[in-house]
Amino acid sequence: MHCTHLIAADTWYVGASDRRLAKFENLFPIPRGVSYNSYVILDEKTALLDTADASVAGQFIENVTHALGGRRLDYLIVDHMEPDHAATIAEVLLRWPEAQIVCNAKTVPMLKAYFPANAGKVDEAMLVKEGDVLSLGVHDLTFVMAPMVHWPEVMFTYDKTTNVLFSADAFGTFGALDSNIFADEVDFARDWLDDARRYYANIVGKYGVQVQAVLKKAAGLPIAVIAPLHGPIWRKDLAWFLGKYDLWSRWQPEDNDVVILYGSMYGNTANAANALAGCLAERGVQGIAVRDLSVTDVSEAVAECFRASTIVLAAPTYNGGIYLPMAHLLEDLKALSLQNRTFALIENGSWAPMSAKLMAERVGELKNCTLLDAKLTLRGTLAPSQYADLTALADAVAAAVKA
Ligand code: FEO
Repeated sequence: MHCTHLIAADTWYVGASDRRLAKFENLFPIPRGVSYNSYVILDEKTALLDTADASVAGQFIENVTHALGGRRLDYLIVDHMEPDHAATIAEVLLRWPEAQIVCNAKTVPMLKAYFPANAGKVDEAMLVKEGDVLSLGVHDLTFVMAPMVHWPEVMFTYDKTTNVLFSADAFGTFGALDSNIFADEVDFARDWLDDARRYYANIVGKYGVQVQAVLKKAAGLPIAVIAPLHGPIWRKDLAWFLGKYDLWSRWQPEDNDVVILYGSMYGNTANAANALAGCLAERGVQGIAVRDLSVTDVSEAVAECFRASTIVLAAPTYNGGIYLPMAHLLEDLKALSLQNRTFALIENGSWAPMSAKLMAERVGELKNCTLLDAKLTLRGTLAPSQYADLTALADAVAAAVKA
């Protein structure tokens, strides 16, 4: 059975959700599932905007078939070639062979690489560039290039008639859609924001400069609806979510508070992290988050680092290096270009503590980040004699949060 939704005049949601996939990109846990959004516009000409992941192909094809109602498909607009949106292109062309592909020049080699059997069809594609207009009849579509948001060929399609911005991955989020497909039909801040931030930080986070560039272009459009390729569609409070994207893409913290991220083999480093959290609470710091990197997925830790202003890293020394869950986090933070944060360190090492020195080197690779002088070194466990060191660290971290 089809499951489609009208999102604007003549514009139908034909995507589908996957609640079975364990990890998006086989990397990021998605306990709430994920949606693959796709849209059909019915006008004198018909257009399908992107396809869907192979895992939801059955539902997706049924939805497109229903939306078209027996009409031919004139255009298949390819805004993004990543397989979570492009995997069913060949299936669409098989069922609607008359459809002409609409894409930009960067998309062509990707289409041929992923779909060599359709190379002839790709050669017949309509190539569009920034500002070109494709009229479907009443609906005039224009195209906004959005390179590296988050692949090089990405473009947005903007319907000048309905003011719907089809924004590719931008403004997307993890999480299956439960048919309340508009952000104003759910409690987005309560139920979706954490996943939206985790999606942004881990999927698009590296490309903040490019996101800023496309946000500036979007600011010139009278957008009424943002229709992303994942997650809820925005028709109200657009400025609130655009504001989040503006902060995230400038690597600015959302919250002036502290996250303590620790690795701990036997609980001693965890104890120090908790003791620090207690001292911070005594100093009036609110919104403290403490996470164990051995049980918290690194994508969640990354998202917390994108959220908070002040980050405490606590880790044992391991094989003369950094305990691996912490090393993984630091590698991700560098890859995602995290900036503009204050860091503090707790290290542990029973005979040759090295992790603070090594973590400091990694923090030093991040742009515009401050490393507090105060730190805590454990030689196994946090000794009562180190209480002064602990409170000195707490004073420094609390001052950084309150600054
Ligand atoms: Fe949702 Fe970059 O694909």
